[in-house]
Amino acid sequence: MNANKSWIIKTWLILGLIPIIHGCQNLDNSDRMNVTELKCESLINPLGVDVSEPGLSWILESDEKDQFQTAYRILVASSEDKLADDMGDVWDSEKIDAGQSNQIRFEGKKLTSGKDYYWKVKAWDKDDIESDWSEVAMWSTGMLSQSDWKAEWIGLDKAVGDDKTDTEFRQLSARYLRQEFKIEKPVQRATAFICGLGAYELYLNGDKVGDHMLSPGLTDYSKRSLYVTYDVTGNIDQIDNAIGIILGNGRYFAPRIKDPFPTVDYGFPKLLLQINLEYEDGSTDVVISDENWKLTPDGPIIANNEYDGETYDALKEMPGWNRVGFNDSDWMDVEMVESPSKELSPQMTEPIRITETIEPIKITEPQPGVYIFDMGQNMVGWTELTVKGKAGTVVKQRFAESLQDDGLLYLDNIRSAKVTNEYTLKGEGIERFVPRFVFHGFRYVELTGFPGKPDLSTIVGMVIHDDLEKTGDFTCSNPMLNAIYKNAVWGIRGNYRSIPADCPQRDERHGWLGDRGTGSRGESYIYDISNLYKKWLTDVFDSQKPNGSISDVNPAYWEMYNDNVTWDGTPVILVDMLRDQYGDTKVISDSYPFLKKWVDHMINSYLKDDIMPRDSYGDWCMPPKDPKVIHAKDPDLLTDGNLIGTAYFYHILTLMEDFAGFTDKHEEAKYYSELASRMKIAYNKKFLDTTRIEYSNNTATASILSLAFGLVPDEYRQKIFDNLLYKTKIENNSHISTGLIGQQFFNRMLSETGEDDLAFTVNTQEDYPGYGYMINNGATTIWELWNGNTADPAMNSQNHVMLLGDLLIWMYENLAGIKSDPEQPGFKNIIMNPALVSQLSYVKAWHKSRYGMIKSEWEIKGNQFEWKVTIPTNSTATVYVPGVKEPKHVGSGTYTFSSEIDIKIN
Ligand code: BGC
Repeated sequence: MNANKSWIIKTWLILGLIPIIHGCQNLDNSDRMNVTELKCESLINPLGVDVSEPGLSWILESDEKDQFQTAYRILVASSEDKLADDMGDVWDSEKIDAGQSNQIRFEGKKLTSGKDYYWKVKAWDKDDIESDWSEVAMWSTGMLSQSDWKAEWIGLDKAVGDDKTDTEFRQLSARYLRQEFKIEKPVQRATAFICGLGAYELYLNGDKVGDHMLSPGLTDYSKRSLYVTYDVTGNIDQIDNAIGIILGNGRYFAPRIKDPFPTVDYGFPKLLLQINLEYEDGSTDVVISDENWKLTPDGPIIANNEYDGETYDALKEMPGWNRVGFNDSDWMDVEMVESPSKELSPQMTEPIRITETIEPIKITEPQPGVYIFDMGQNMVGWTELTVKGKAGTVVKQRFAESLQDDGLLYLDNIRSAKVTNEYTLKGEGIERFVPRFVFHGFRYVELTGFPGKPDLSTIVGMVIHDDLEKTGDFTCSNPMLNAIYKNAVWGIRGNYRSIPADCPQRDERHGWLGDRGTGSRGESYIYDISNLYKKWLTDVFDSQKPNGSISDVNPAYWEMYNDNVTWDGTPVILVDMLRDQYGDTKVISDSYPFLKKWVDHMINSYLKDDIMPRDSYGDWCMPPKDPKVIHAKDPDLLTDGNLIGTAYFYHILTLMEDFAGFTDKHEEAKYYSELASRMKIAYNKKFLDTTRIEYSNNTATASILSLAFGLVPDEYRQKIFDNLLYKTKIENNSHISTGLIGQQFFNRMLSETGEDDLAFTVNTQEDYPGYGYMINNGATTIWELWNGNTADPAMNSQNHVMLLGDLLIWMYENLAGIKSDPEQPGFKNIIMNPALVSQLSYVKAWHKSRYGMIKSEWEIKGNQFEWKVTIPTNSTATVYVPGVKEPKHVGSGTYTFSSEIDIKIN
């Protein structure tokens, strides 16, 4: 093993810990440690929080090395004035001796609905010196009880005009709703609470409220719908006011894609809106959706759905419809409609926003009048079209990820989605069209019907996705690995649509559980995904059957309850990720009952002789030999589903044992632990050939799972590693041979035996199968299939993230060497342990944890290894300098380490 390693580290450390930033030893508290970035429920100043004990966090900053918090005090007040006077009339925690600065539960007075709460924090440092108060932050409460809702559900429960309701491509026109209201005295505060299904836009006095796109987030609407809270004080006119709302179809009235399952039908779009008014004189009032509202389905958006597109007729625009004084006498009265779900919860995730605009790089005209724009990047969102022409001219856009040989769009892999936006001009000067209730995954845009000749300024690409905080970046000396990383980030961001979706382009776009098991841990280095994944867990638990069964797709728009281990066990893995990466322990206690229900259901219904024979997808999308097929058929390449099911379930039981112990359910922990031990024995009995010392048919995945989950008896571990190396290096000529399942642990298993050079080679391969192969064939994101340029288009997305496996984890944890210590989760203690590879002369990476900025920047110059490390205040790190036997334990600060190594960089 390790024969190819082209470097050997000489083991001495030239320079020890050199703090390069020295804090001035000034004891003036304002300089020593500052409390910054206050977050409530992991969000900055969130509105509409409905938890009774919100989690409060902050970041500490200090220029001093080895600085940490020893105590804190939180003040929460009902007004900014009270807080300014240091009065915590809602909560004064008093000084609490604790180092915790992440997710401290509010323990003040009972919170009331629809109120603002202001808070600030001070902290004591390691010498018990008190900081200044932080800046003031706030949160507002949402509707804490059902009875706070006075509004009623309104809509129109039927199709009208050209609405299509009975086809797979069903579409309704957008419904426009309006109401006016008067205000008779000065308003001090106005708050709007809105749930518009499938998706809404809210206007007050002609202006769009907020910058959300496609809100609210997706849910299983039969169980839960999300409302959004806006502070609309500034939108209210002091006397006459008008509310306008556009309702799109979203996934509520979704196309009924039949294959593989009929998409769930929730009914016609509907609205619930309440504006709480607080007057300066202390009195209050509400404006609500009710039977007095007016509606028209006859506005300019004449058809819309997320997959097929949006059709907009500007001749049907209704100037002033969302302002006071509009004549709505020919609009209809709304219908009072049923509430969609029992649960109505606030949306506690970052909304979808436009995060970037992209200009096309090229236009071609493969057929007269058919223009193809190349955006230069496979992106998710839509375009803004600029056009001038005669009234009634119809301009069409269609969207695709790639082109055919003749230069026209390649639409086969989009399957039944029509991906068409249509705009009819009103003929009044320069017109601009931006759709609202659709999104596309595309690199190429086809434009037809355009009056005149378009140029590069005719369309602009708008990138949309959940606007999550960016929490990391990675770069290194190898351009191919950098290009792969860039593609991964484009793929990850594009597929956040209030759920982690599988793909953005074809007639699917679902939250498939299996795609995001281990991958989510990699994503967590790049974006703050904590609230998104907690929301997704709620989606999973909402759709869980009473017997414990979990759908493979969540929200369960396709009801796929087939009780397999790898997809449906993902929630257990996600909870573990949230604990490790964010130090979130509440998610363990909140999720445990649901996870237990599923685990017990699987045990009681399927476990046989301690083997779990429940697998649906095998080692999904492993690279087949035949370039045309999607799934390999060759039995030598396929990993036995019973092995996958049993190994994975064993791993799940070990996590459950841990979670049960954490929640003080010691009997249950013991039960899971004993069962896991029995399964390990049964697994080895059934799948380990002790003569050849191989698992099953000896695929890389069989070895990886057995090693990664600790199933291999000690005496065989080395041989099983050797099997994995032989498979990868010799039989597959240093190429990947696993699918989604094995890949989740592939790189880390190689790293464990010091085979990072091999991992590097496999990951940057430029021939099939390899990420480099994708790039050499034009990929700007990550494909669903290793042979995505040649395989059957039936299942061949060019923007999936599942094949990333543990690549990103390996890049951050192993190459950069930034890893959360599972013993002190949430990066309270950081394990810094870079793996040097002969292909890299430098790596620079940062990750912003719950405690602040972590940096690792190393470079090899000749024989010299130089490493600059930053540890945030209130964190510590265990630092493994390459070549130095004993790790160092350091506190916060920036350090440089050097060692002399004997390394040959290729
Ligand atoms: C999806 C995948 C998913 C798989 C499982 C595909 O069509 O796009 O991401 O995990 O089906 O069957």
